[in-house]
Amino acid sequence: MLNDPFTYQAGVLSCEGVALDSIATEFGTPTYVYAKHGILSRFSAYENALSGLPHRICYSVKANSNLAILAVLAKQGAGFDIVSGGELFRVIQAGGDPRSVVFSGVGKTPEEIRFALEQRIHSFNCESESEIEWISKIATELGQTASIAIRVNPDVDAVTHPYISTGLREHKFGVDIHAAEATYTRAAQLPGLAIEGVSCHIGSQLLDPDPLLQAAGKVIELVKRLRALNLPIRYLDLGGGLGVPYRPGDRAAPVNTFIERLRPKLEGLNLTLMLEPGRSVVAESGVLLARVLLVKRNGEKNFVIVDAAMNDLIRPALYQAHHEIVPVRQCGHESHFRADVVGPVCETGDFFARGRELPAVKPGDLLAIRTAGAYGFVLSSNYNSRPRPCEVLVDGNDVHIARRREQFADLIRGESA
Ligand code: LLP
Repeated sequence: MLNDPFTYQAGVLSCEGVALDSIATEFGTPTYVYAKHGILSRFSAYENALSGLPHRICYSVKANSNLAILAVLAKQGAGFDIVSGGELFRVIQAGGDPRSVVFSGVGKTPEEIRFALEQRIHSFNCESESEIEWISKIATELGQTASIAIRVNPDVDAVTHPYISTGLREHKFGVDIHAAEATYTRAAQLPGLAIEGVSCHIGSQLLDPDPLLQAAGKVIELVKRLRALNLPIRYLDLGGGLGVPYRPGDRAAPVNTFIERLRPKLEGLNLTLMLEPGRSVVAESGVLLARVLLVKRNGEKNFVIVDAAMNDLIRPALYQAHHEIVPVRQCGHESHFRADVVGPVCETGDFFARGRELPAVKPGDLLAIRTAGAYGFVLSSNYNSRPRPCEVLVDGNDVHIARRREQFADLIRGESA
């Protein structure tokens, strides 16, 4: 078990060495607070588990793409998994090495492919024959050889929320594993390509690694078949997907348990293992700090209305996701009540929790919405013309502004009347 970066110190929820109430006072609310050492220790858990195996850990930028976080991981030697030209731009701005970047995604534009080739990224995870043709054409124009892997769909049920399950035949992702040999053989005829990898990603928030291991088994069999066809496969990319405990009772398999079960499957294969973890690196090291605006009762129900909303953290509305909500100050809440915790946005879907047992909070109290380091800020919007929150990165006793709070002027940037 890795340490929880958020603990109560003298009755106040703190991130590493800094009390969250002081962050609220200094930077206002809502604010995303991230713990640098929490992120580093989770990244290191992957590095340690993989020691002795040829590997590259490509942090999945989509989970949290703030420059400060990318920079911390780049300094630690992380590679990056990107899905857009914008994510590649961020990686470069944060000091990441493009040569450690894998470019995933089902719909890359020609401009993005060109940009990635110009930046000399490590490889493309391709999801269709048309995409492979585009890469071949653009690489040839540039006089380059593009390293590619084909993302196959191993038809394994990831047992997670339907919106984040991707490994079944009926999903838009990847190439059917049964058709893969034909796709590889055709790709091998094209100029400008080095066909060196097989990749897959079956879904996200997997508490049980069994489906991932099952997928790995199927994909390894494919690697053997491809090698028998004289295709020099060197890289095996198993994507991301390991889950985190959002609820106190959730048991997520530790990274090293997963890797120890994977290791024997890779024995003697001379493959470099690539992983693309996102959530499991950053989720637990972030909270969304919000202030209670008011408490009201409608009929039988209590509502705690906070100053954060679905535009800041959409996971509960979009995936019925559970996030623990805890008071920043432990004392002064002798009684409890059951309430919906909601934001000010004009949508019934604007909630963080429904019918949740909570300490009897009052206006002005601070709440921390936990496990919000992944797929939090990155999915935020300006809906209801709400400026997006501030993000801070805590490093021991220091607080670094990772993104300043948006101002009204930011809301209309680029618009004209
Ligand atoms: N690689 C690929 C190709 C992916 O599509 C994803 C996530 C990852 C890696 C990283 O997966 P992770 O290790 O984070 O599970 N917004 C949703 C999650 C969407 C995941 C999309 N793909 C949520 O908030 O739960």
